[in-house]
Amino acid sequence: MPSRPTLIAGLLLTVGLLLVPAPTAAQNAEIKIDIDRTIGEVDSLIYGNFVEHLGRNVYGGIYDPDSPLSNEQGFREDVIQATRDLNVSLMRYPGGNFVSNYDWEDGVGEERPNRLELAWSRIESNEFGTNEFMEFAEAVDTEPYFAVNLGTGTIEEAQQWVEYTNYEGGTYYSELRKEHGHEEPYDIKYWSLGNEMDGYWQIGHLNAEDYSKKAREAAKMMTRTDPDLSLVAAGASNFRPDADPMHWNRIVLDELKDVVDYIALHIYVGDPNDNYYNFQSTPHVMEERTELVEGLIDIAMQDADREDEIKIAWDEYNVWYRARSGSDMEGETALEERYNLSDALVIAGFLNGFIRQADIVKMANLAQLVNVIGTMFTTPDDMFKQTIYYPIQLYAEHAYGTSLDVHVNSETYDTDEFFIGLGEQQTQQSDVPYLDVSATHQDDGEVIINVVNRHRDEAITTDLISQTGGFEGPFEVYEINGPDVNARNTFEEQPVQTEQLDDVQGGGESFTYTFPPHSVTMLKGRIAQ
Ligand code: AHR
Repeated sequence: MPSRPTLIAGLLLTVGLLLVPAPTAAQNAEIKIDIDRTIGEVDSLIYGNFVEHLGRNVYGGIYDPDSPLSNEQGFREDVIQATRDLNVSLMRYPGGNFVSNYDWEDGVGEERPNRLELAWSRIESNEFGTNEFMEFAEAVDTEPYFAVNLGTGTIEEAQQWVEYTNYEGGTYYSELRKEHGHEEPYDIKYWSLGNEMDGYWQIGHLNAEDYSKKAREAAKMMTRTDPDLSLVAAGASNFRPDADPMHWNRIVLDELKDVVDYIALHIYVGDPNDNYYNFQSTPHVMEERTELVEGLIDIAMQDADREDEIKIAWDEYNVWYRARSGSDMEGETALEERYNLSDALVIAGFLNGFIRQADIVKMANLAQLVNVIGTMFTTPDDMFKQTIYYPIQLYAEHAYGTSLDVHVNSETYDTDEFFIGLGEQQTQQSDVPYLDVSATHQDDGEVIINVVNRHRDEAITTDLISQTGGFEGPFEVYEINGPDVNARNTFEEQPVQTEQLDDVQGGGESFTYTFPPHSVTMLKGRIAQ
């Protein structure tokens, strides 16, 4: 019979075991890379961004003549530098909902009228317009992508804007540009035919048939002015229960199949019920919609009169759910969402999705650049980079080449709700992998492996296996992480950033790497040719 002290010790040990949570076992996973299993070329235009006249994006964001941080032209030098570092390939302008009540002529020349701006309930001073934006685009080394007003605007106004920006000379609007100090045409290539015209919230909202007719006629006038334009149709953005987004997409694709080069899709996701794992699965909504629209494109292409295919432009995507009602939706401080690490993981999930669908997704624009659901946040005399800045910056710096069809063996989870946007549509999503992976390969042997470990608590030890040719280390390692998924950056401290860690050797057929919880990791090395 055990003695009394032994009994007490045994009891204490049992209670202790019950009270102290057992350490969670790390999972294991496999990532198999085969350079012969290719998807398509990653288009650099997937690393685009967006500047809308909304809140403090333009005024108080990129342009703030009263700020001590601005240059002589009124542009914020710190924002210019951070935008250059973000490697933005393409910048959409000037909206968004704003464009559907915008007269571009208000924003050029000497006379700049104050206008009541009805999309976001503010006064638009028009101090910043086409030429100021082009100056900014040049300063940050990005390609401009303009949207024309097909809400209150006419097809003639759309044509005149192209004439102003792209026509060499000898006509009213091209000479006006010269009078405004811009002798050479800008040759702006990318133009979108309106914004979210399927949305009941859009000024001048149309049905699919009326939109297609107006867009086709605008396109006719615009391309007769400049035949080198690349045009983008407004695809469906209204996914509320009473809408029929695929009807819109089908009609628009059928009607505009010989006219446009892209169909634009928009998506905003959020975590309104504080359900981290549901939220992490939301980039897969985007991938599902890509597949649906790709099917419609295939159907439309059956009898289209063109060589190439229409491509998909996710020309607005982001996390947006906090600043989405009441006064957060209007005026000078509209849409000032503050991001955390969880949001940055979702943005990396979007980027992985775009790369996995690189054969059809050929453009994407994070919405938006500064303050307004932005990658940066400013006051007149300070600026910090939000968490979502970092995945975009990292991918846009490195992730190019041919997208690979990666095989991933990772444990999965089921979501009980699959929220998108405002959480109005929910379904269940099963088999969401904890490891979300994409990879790219270059002709010179470079391979980039992008891994989001969505697990909130567990590291995942993973065998990386090369199916064709051996890995050649060393691998550079970049990691975006923070103390926990709610970690945010502020003016005072920025716990969420990209860190370059020590290289890993990673040679031969396989190597093992442990991806820490709630992290984005990029491994950059080579595969022998
Ligand atoms: O990015 C904010 C808004 O979201 C855009 O103006 C509009 O196009 C979308 O609904």
